[in-house]
Amino acid sequence: MNDLVATARSLFIPGKGILAADESVHTATARLADYGIGAGPEMRRQYRNLFFGAENIEQYLSGVILFSDTLLEKGDDKNFFPASLAARGIAPGVKVDLGTEPFPASEKELITQGLLDLSERLALYKKQGAVFTKWRAVIRIDGDSLPTALAIHENAKRLASYAKEVQSAGLVPLIEPEVLYKGKHSRQRAKEVMIETLGTLFAVLDEHSVDRASIVLKTSMVLSGSESGKIDTPEEVAEDTLAALMESVPSQIAGIVFLSGGQTPDQATDNLRAITLRAREMSAPWPLTFSYARALQEEALALWKGKEENVPAARAAFLDRLAKVSAALA
Ligand code: 13P
Repeated sequence: MNDLVATARSLFIPGKGILAADESVHTATARLADYGIGAGPEMRRQYRNLFFGAENIEQYLSGVILFSDTLLEKGDDKNFFPASLAARGIAPGVKVDLGTEPFPASEKELITQGLLDLSERLALYKKQGAVFTKWRAVIRIDGDSLPTALAIHENAKRLASYAKEVQSAGLVPLIEPEVLYKGKHSRQRAKEVMIETLGTLFAVLDEHSVDRASIVLKTSMVLSGSESGKIDTPEEVAEDTLAALMESVPSQIAGIVFLSGGQTPDQATDNLRAITLRAREMSAPWPLTFSYARALQEEALALWKGKEENVPAARAAFLDRLAKVSAALA
């Protein structure tokens, strides 16, 4: 087994998953503002330190996805975040896409940027301690008209170029085509879009000769849209999510991680539990785990409020949620 495959597989230690803590400056500022927490570089450093500095997170986390600026920041222990995470057995990853822009051929849709100077940035991130990377594409559902096949294909091409470059640089690519939860669509429509998106993606990855064995897929769950008025049962989510994945994801990839996408922490936990069970019943060929941002952070941020005296309570809430999500993998 080569080193990249070993690194990719190490993200799937039983009972462990990934914390996505790669909010850009813009997203982190907006996220903190949602909880009445002020902006600025020191507040963002404290925000990261709240999560990375919590005791025993290594019991539940195999990896953390960082924003590039965070690779150069230090925790309260004066160590760089990537080094202190790695010392605890948690693989540091980094978001390498540069966000989205409107797709000229279909302006209501988005394509992801960041390929231009990618190889230089990868060399830098590797030196700064990253061992895996993430690139997120966004697929929006609107009735039968969106997504267009063109936007799915353009995003797939960019994900494939990214993955190829990342593997050449000696890093693991986590490929994330996020089918958005936001919308009025049915679960059936979400399932069809997921199958089309993943089917296109894996065909294009093969055209670009991306090595399947060191790819990690980061995907949405198949859900009725957040504005559809329907809340799916975990069994419904599990049934349709596994059906879509079994139809479109090759067995050779290193594994699949799920994003939370705006679900509540309990929803994301309960759905993961049902998905884990269903995958076992169906003898799904890949290991599965979580890679949540909001569902792991929300409860802690509500308690923290940016105040030093609230750190212990906020960290306890974070650990409690991690324990629940980890137990959902059992
Ligand atoms: P959420 O779990 O909040 O959807 O974030 C995961 C992620 O990394 C999105 O790119």
